[in-house]
Amino acid sequence: MEKQSRRAFVKLSAGAVIGAAVPSSAAGLLAPNVAEITVYPDQVLGDISPNIYGQFIEHLGRAIYGGIYDDAQRRFRPDVLEKVQQLHPPLLRYPGGTVTKIYHWKDGVGPARPVRKNLIWGGNDNNHVGTDEFMRYAELVGAAPFLTVNMSTGTAEEAADWVDYCNGTGTSYASQRQANGHAAPYGVKYWGLGNEEAAREDVGTLQNVQDYVKKAWYYAKLMKLQDPSIQLIMAGDQAAWNEEVLRELHPICDYISLHLYASSKPGEPASLFASIATMEASIQKLAAQIKALTPAKVENFSKWYRFPSRQQPVKIALDEWGIWEAGGQGAYGLEQRYTWNHALGVATFLNIFQRNAAVIGLATWAQTVNVLAPIMTNETTSICQTIYYPMALYRRLCGPRSVAVAPTGVATLDVSASTDGKTLTLALVNRDPAAAIRLKLNPKITGHWTAHELTAPSLDAMNTLTAPDTNVVSYQQRTLPAGTTAYTLAARSIVLVQAPI
Ligand code: AHR
Repeated sequence: MEKQSRRAFVKLSAGAVIGAAVPSSAAGLLAPNVAEITVYPDQVLGDISPNIYGQFIEHLGRAIYGGIYDDAQRRFRPDVLEKVQQLHPPLLRYPGGTVTKIYHWKDGVGPARPVRKNLIWGGNDNNHVGTDEFMRYAELVGAAPFLTVNMSTGTAEEAADWVDYCNGTGTSYASQRQANGHAAPYGVKYWGLGNEEAAREDVGTLQNVQDYVKKAWYYAKLMKLQDPSIQLIMAGDQAAWNEEVLRELHPICDYISLHLYASSKPGEPASLFASIATMEASIQKLAAQIKALTPAKVENFSKWYRFPSRQQPVKIALDEWGIWEAGGQGAYGLEQRYTWNHALGVATFLNIFQRNAAVIGLATWAQTVNVLAPIMTNETTSICQTIYYPMALYRRLCGPRSVAVAPTGVATLDVSASTDGKTLTLALVNRDPAAAIRLKLNPKITGHWTAHELTAPSLDAMNTLTAPDTNVVSYQQRTLPAGTTAYTLAARSIVLVQAPI
């Protein structure tokens, strides 16, 4: 990494560039890096779906029992609920994940709950948390529910019955739902047709994409006959699989799923960002396939289907994204301890989602509690890991439209920009462990800038259950005086700066 002093520029609109001499760092050891950023507030890249800030929970390890749910007391854990609520997830995916392939929703409704072996992740599942409990949780955290149906050990009829149970009126399943305490239909809009169906090692039966296509049509027909308004998320995989899915299922494919798990090489924190960068390439590759293979909407759909064809462009569902390092604890090493470097990774991911907003319809972080999670628990307490904080900050501050931004000069800087038409929000991530980045602010912005700054003492700083009252993440909100022209982005920081436009 180059660490000598240069001149810094931030160009926030065409023709508004200013430079400033960059001072050496106080210690004289590391001079700040410099960057030039050009923002084009009028160049809209796409609407940012509010659903990119979703979460995922699965019947896996301590995600549900011991995570969101206290089975001994038969209630949701209040400490965890409060933390999930403060994440404000707009969308919650359930029940899997791979467990979808052995999950039978009827085991999880009504008074008699059979205990089943969790054939995928181990242990027994007493089904104390099922559909109605999940719906209640989604309601408590303010999220729309997103359900995945079993295409392996389940049947299309079982999936359609689930749609009826959740969304029907006047049917026996609707009466059953009423008897279970919920008279009004849940109106579940998002339905995933399977999960990672191309995966060979688990109990899925559909590794051949032609088999998936055939079965997905059948599922879609039966489910949409129950409720024509539901939206379907088709399972994606590699390019050849995706091509076939898009060609054959596009009249009924609202979303194609893409799962992204980043990781780093031991002792090389920066390798995490290289891993995440490949994921932006994956998103763009799938976006190109969608563009090439699917019309924006489907006309001339036979009325004999008895439900409408797709009327909106196909979007990508990043219905599992996250960071999955080797060497975790718990079931299959999925209990991960996230450092501040991982938090910088989360912010980088969210910038990628903003830059590619035009094609990303939804995203659900895998997962929520204990499993690959921003929230960890033990029997008596819970903590927010480092990654929780950028998630919460982006959700709170980013605007609904992504606008063009072009940074040059510093590889450790990652940027996205968004607006609601009144406020410009620049999301800045400095992944450098030690060197600040010197920026200049646009003089055309006459109002105050507000900087929301997150940082931690080192890249490997972590929050732990052994010191639950210590938070290594510091947050500072600073108002920069009107006319401010320079801003220093601290080393290893995530900063959302906002200004009226
Ligand atoms: O999130 C953990 C697992 O990762 C999910 O069950 C599966 O879909 C993915 O491989």
